Amino acid sequence: MATDKENIALMFNDIAPTYDKLNHILSLNIDKSWRRKAVNRLKKSLSKVPQPLILDVACGTADSTVQIAKSIENAHVSAIDISEKMLEIGMGKVEKLNLSERVDFHNSCAESIDFQDNTLDAAFVAFGVRNFSDREKGLKEILRVLKPKSSLFILELSEPQNVIVRWIYNLYFKNILPHIGKLVSGNKNAYRYLQKTVEEFPMPQEFIEILESAGYQNVRHKALSFGLCRIYQAEKP
Ligand SMILES: C[S@@+](CC[C@H](N)C(=O)[O-])C[C@H]1O[C@@H](n2cnc3c(N)ncnc32)[C@H](O)[C@@H]1O
Repeated sequence: MATDKENIALMFNDIAPTYDKLNHILSLNIDKSWRRKAVNRLKKSLSKVPQPLILDVACGTADSTVQIAKSIENAHVSAIDISEKMLEIGMGKVEKLNLSERVDFHNSCAESIDFQDNTLDAAFVAFGVRNFSDREKGLKEILRVLKPKSSLFILELSEPQNVIVRWIYNLYFKNILPHIGKLVSGNKNAYRYLQKTVEEFPMPQEFIEILESAGYQNVRHKALSFGLCRIYQAEKP
């Protein structure tokens, strides 16, 4: 029987060809500005590191990977994901943009990262933590490979707390998004899964506590677009 992780990889393999298009349609292109804001914070945190080695976990089709490599010019990015098809699309983008010398890809998971302890200057996860089959293990594994005093940046969708925004969000997310998702990708379940994982994702205070109990310190977060998305920053002691 397939494990959770295998099923998640199969689902992303299935939607990989339409993932980018749908991402931008469904978020009305706002995902680009969320990524940019998170990458700017990452860049700021690395301003004193001459040639940072950055891990992009659950890189998918490499939108964040590309953004990181473009905006932090002296960085090397190692990008990992469990879905071969998402990686293939990511690799194509990186080649086209002539960034291959500063980016490498690995078909591997957050729960078992192929780096030695204390080797990375920063880690980044955009819209991926929600999907980890073992979230606690993944967060601890990222902590293991980070150098002391370096940071993990997490960009994640969240349910807005304002009542009116939440009402509009629920209408869109529950009633409209799965149908558009099915229409474009042919896979309605994937977009139901998206909605379910966002619904089940911990509220900010709870997620901060999860990060702290995984071993991180100075955990903070910023809400973007009325709380539709959040950037978490957490430091390795
Ligand atoms: C919603 S996509 C996000 C992709 C990309 N980071 C972005 O910003 O568009 C989630 C990605 O997480 C990957 N993923 C899910 N579980 C994972 C795990 N345990 N380890 C590594 N990647 C994982 C999936 O294959 C998928 O490509």
